[in-house]
Amino acid sequence: MSSTRSSQQDETLDYFRAGAEAWRKSAIGEAQGEVNVIAQRIEAVLRVARRMNPAPGLSLDVGCGTGQLSLALAAMGGEAVGLDFAPEMIEQCTIGLKKDPQPGVSFIQGSIFDYGPPAGRSLDLISALGFIEYVSPDELEQLLVRFRKWLRPGGFCVLGSRNRLFNLFSLNRFTQLERGLGTIEALLNESLLLAMAKDPTSALKAAMDAATPLPQPEVHPEAGVTVTQRYQYTPGELAALTGRFGFRAVSAAPVHYHPMPPAVKGDRGAFHLDYSEALFAAAPEDVRLVPQASTFVMALEAV
Ligand SMILES: C[S@@+](CC[C@H](N)C(=O)[O-])C[C@H]1O[C@@H](n2cnc3c(N)ncnc32)[C@H](O)[C@@H]1O
Repeated sequence: MSSTRSSQQDETLDYFRAGAEAWRKSAIGEAQGEVNVIAQRIEAVLRVARRMNPAPGLSLDVGCGTGQLSLALAAMGGEAVGLDFAPEMIEQCTIGLKKDPQPGVSFIQGSIFDYGPPAGRSLDLISALGFIEYVSPDELEQLLVRFRKWLRPGGFCVLGSRNRLFNLFSLNRFTQLERGLGTIEALLNESLLLAMAKDPTSALKAAMDAATPLPQPEVHPEAGVTVTQRYQYTPGELAALTGRFGFRAVSAAPVHYHPMPPAVKGDRGAFHLDYSEALFAAAPEDVRLVPQASTFVMALEAV
């Protein structure tokens, strides 16, 4: 795998270098009135980690941002490595570590494309939240090969993804984009399979069995992030894709459920926040709610 960065990754690095301090404020819940998507994603990973038996000994968080997940994993007693290529993110991790000293944690500045785990060790858990958006589908496949090699059998890879199904329900420029690509029918079909399934396990399997790879647009609407291409997947698509690399999709947690379209939520901010957080607390792992969630977090067992 080449360590020469793509223009997408260059844009990503610039964007996150500039935004590290603000990111930490959001991560620790200082962005008033907003659903804390970072905290919901982290909670989704911790739910997987808490169920692992034995508890994860060595974990790697890829694109760790300001480090909250690594700190939380180390607090469970294992060794946690947080890796991020933005030096400013790693500076924020260090600030966080001073406030919450965790002996098991180490933060490394560098690209995942140049990383290798400690010699002779296998990993129990690899997480990547808000990360796969910023690598091309080819790069993702190359990383999946590596992740599978690094994990012990029975270990977990947990991936957060922007949820492409949500483009149906957001009723905005993303919906128009999908209409232009001719993907509405496929997105609706998967949403129906998920929402009408009798339980979460059969829902994810039905979505995976029906999934077909969708064309990825070359340019995404900006939506506050100045990286031109930010890849999105459906749960079925990601489950099927990762299945080709030795992973079994076990769950997909809905993150940031939207009771109303983004264009309207600003007018009803408090209601949106309360509703979304209450639903996350009540049904944190029900994949049938994913169609109306802007993100999902998928747990993949290394088989
Ligand atoms: C959307 S942020 C998510 C941060 C964190 N995972 C969270 O959920 O709060 C994505 C992070 O991935 C990092 N990143 C992107 N590409 C990377 C690469 N090739 N190697 C390491 N870090 C990368 C960015 O610098 C950024 O901090």
